[in-house]
Amino acid sequence: MPGVVIVGTQWGDEGKGRFTDYLASDSALCVRYQGGHNAGHTLVVDGEVFALQLVPSGILYPHVTPVIGNGVVVDPSVLLEEIDMLESKGISTARLRVSGNAHLIMPYHQEFDRVTERYLGKNKLGTTMRGIGPAYADKALRVGIRVQDLLDPSIFRAKLDLALREKNLVLAKVYNRLPLDADEITETYLAMVPRLEPLIADTVHLVHEALDANEKVLFEGAQATFLDLDHGTYPYVTSSNPISGGVGPGAGVGPLAINRVIGVAKAYLTRVGAGPFPTELFPGDEVGDMLVERGAEFGTNTGRRRRPGWLDAVMLRHAVRLNSCTELAMAKLDVLTPCAEIKVCVAYEAEDGTRFDHVPYHQSVLHKVRPIYETLPGWESEITEAKKVEDLPDSARDYLKFIEQVAGVPISFLGVGPGREQTIVTNSHA
Ligand code: GDP
Ligand code: IMO
Ligand code: MG
Repeated sequence: MPGVVIVGTQWGDEGKGRFTDYLASDSALCVRYQGGHNAGHTLVVDGEVFALQLVPSGILYPHVTPVIGNGVVVDPSVLLEEIDMLESKGISTARLRVSGNAHLIMPYHQEFDRVTERYLGKNKLGTTMRGIGPAYADKALRVGIRVQDLLDPSIFRAKLDLALREKNLVLAKVYNRLPLDADEITETYLAMVPRLEPLIADTVHLVHEALDANEKVLFEGAQATFLDLDHGTYPYVTSSNPISGGVGPGAGVGPLAINRVIGVAKAYLTRVGAGPFPTELFPGDEVGDMLVERGAEFGTNTGRRRRPGWLDAVMLRHAVRLNSCTELAMAKLDVLTPCAEIKVCVAYEAEDGTRFDHVPYHQSVLHKVRPIYETLPGWESEITEAKKVEDLPDSARDYLKFIEQVAGVPISFLGVGPGREQTIVTNSHA
């Protein structure tokens, strides 16, 4: 049963979308299993840019069924806008399916995301303000409203009334905000039903039908390992489980359905929002500023400047473990071209001098570690036209070998530019 997971090994924006698009060419299904429109996955095909938030990155192939799994939180208006955007570019969305068990993002989730961030003040998380955390919180509290509830107006209204009874009190009395109107929300959401209904499906069944027929099913992670609710740098995380194990609850398969886990890493690091970042290069740092500019490191989704830093092999090793990565896909190797020297963090030194070869479990330690770097020679020549590993300069290949060695798994795919055709399949492994 060929289940393949694509998972971010860093803090997101590693290039999951572009590798998913590449790998979807021989897949039957492409399934999102967690997250929501906090994701921003960019595909570049023949110079045309597609920025996706909810729709799986396999959408560009007519033979792929893109599936939004039960573990995703769905803002239906965003979904419809994205469908319209794709259709306007000539991409058919007819095959798209959405799980009836996926939870809906409601207007009060977005309102709570905004007001709680405001109340956190300087301790704010820097969320995408999309209502993701509050929607997952309601799911866990068992007061969420699911996609299937849209198909029964009286149930939808009853659940909405129940939710608003509490939400409006809190909004008014704690956050000094105006209450939300149940009639208005009902009207807006139910008006979308005629367009949504044909998409709603039993996606667990779809996934198993494909697996049983021995067809390739690609599970597309959003966010990343160090934004994972359990394994990330809590509380500076998202509210779902992006790690490969999240495919189980988020798509409805057991671990044996998966036989390949591709961890996506950028050739350096970025992070959006708050939280610890041992190898961070702060604004004003020449290399950091170059990475942001050359790597166009501004959020696909929110436009925020991403915080840059050197690749952190301590984190990468941990991500390989947490996800059972069988291999890596590395994007943005081309962005490192101007660097005469490239640094890779291979261990940390804590404030008291202790050396850590693994990620310290205590976050107060992680916040204050000093990265210990290995310095490798750069290549300083453009590599964006390279078609195979042999086309790369020796020092670029040495860099890749070094990463494979410290990560403990091979690199199967490389990105030397954002375009689909700028993907190199390394001969030895893939
Ligand atoms: P995702 O969230 O992991 O899918 O990644 P994003 O799409 O948010 O961010 C990756 C950004 O880098 C996008 O703008 C991509 O077009 C771009 N990108 C991806 N791979 C490469 C690469 O190999 N080289 C360069 N220069 N850009 C890339
Ligand atoms: P993709 O799939 C980068 C970050 C936010 C914030 C934290 C919590 O494109 O890699 P949330 O809105 O999820 O409650 O925000 O997580 N974040 C991302 N950072 N890429 C993403 O997605 C992200 N999704 C959420 O910036 O720090
Ligand atoms: Mg992104």
